[in-house]
Amino acid sequence: MRLDKLIVECGIASRSEAGRLIRSGKATVNGLTVKKPDFKVDENNDEIFLLGKKVCYKKFTYIMLNKPEGYVSATEDPNEKTVLDLVSLEDRRKGLFPCGRLDKNTLGLVILTNDGDGAHYVLSPKHHVEKVYKFECASPLSQNDIAALECGVDIGEYTTKPCKISMDGDCVGKITLTEGKYHQIKRMLEAVDNKITYLERISFGGIALDPSLSRGEWRYLTAEEERIFIKK
Ligand code: URA
Repeated sequence: MRLDKLIVECGIASRSEAGRLIRSGKATVNGLTVKKPDFKVDENNDEIFLLGKKVCYKKFTYIMLNKPEGYVSATEDPNEKTVLDLVSLEDRRKGLFPCGRLDKNTLGLVILTNDGDGAHYVLSPKHHVEKVYKFECASPLSQNDIAALECGVDIGEYTTKPCKISMDGDCVGKITLTEGKYHQIKRMLEAVDNKITYLERISFGGIALDPSLSRGEWRYLTAEEERIFIKK
């Protein structure tokens, strides 16, 4: 693998930053300074340092993205902008995909990864990984509506699993799900004759959407945050 690519894939720097650092003599491979960004390294065996710090190759990348409205949760689409379009080509690691889907007009936390098994694990309802959404609905939710939604409602071909709701106003609240059917929250609110007017995912498996990220911005998950992808 190219040295600059390895540095990018480890989430240490963008491709252009990595190239600049390598050309200015800040990288060593097995004790020797290497100034060519395309220098071929063995990611599993070579000892690589950048700016005096050891570079450990990571097989998987995890990105937290603050999704704006108007992007579909897909890797490609012939007609729509996708969440992957928000990551520049040079930072886009091969195999990156959105872990779960948010609707085109839903905002907030999307995790992008190339870890298929990890994504499968956190998305499986069996593992009870909680996703928290902030919502607003068109009409006030009654105590009966909340109780019905929390127990599970018929959304067509499916009855939803128990969930948690906390209200911050008559029409504003948070809903915590451990599953993710197509348009689930919208269909749940329709099941109690209401309508979602705002939806934003604010947390996934205990990872909170970073308030320092503006809509459309992203950052790598921290080592602590990545732990949800490790199967127990
Ligand atoms: N439920 C929905 O209805 N839409 C989303 O985007 C996520 C959950």
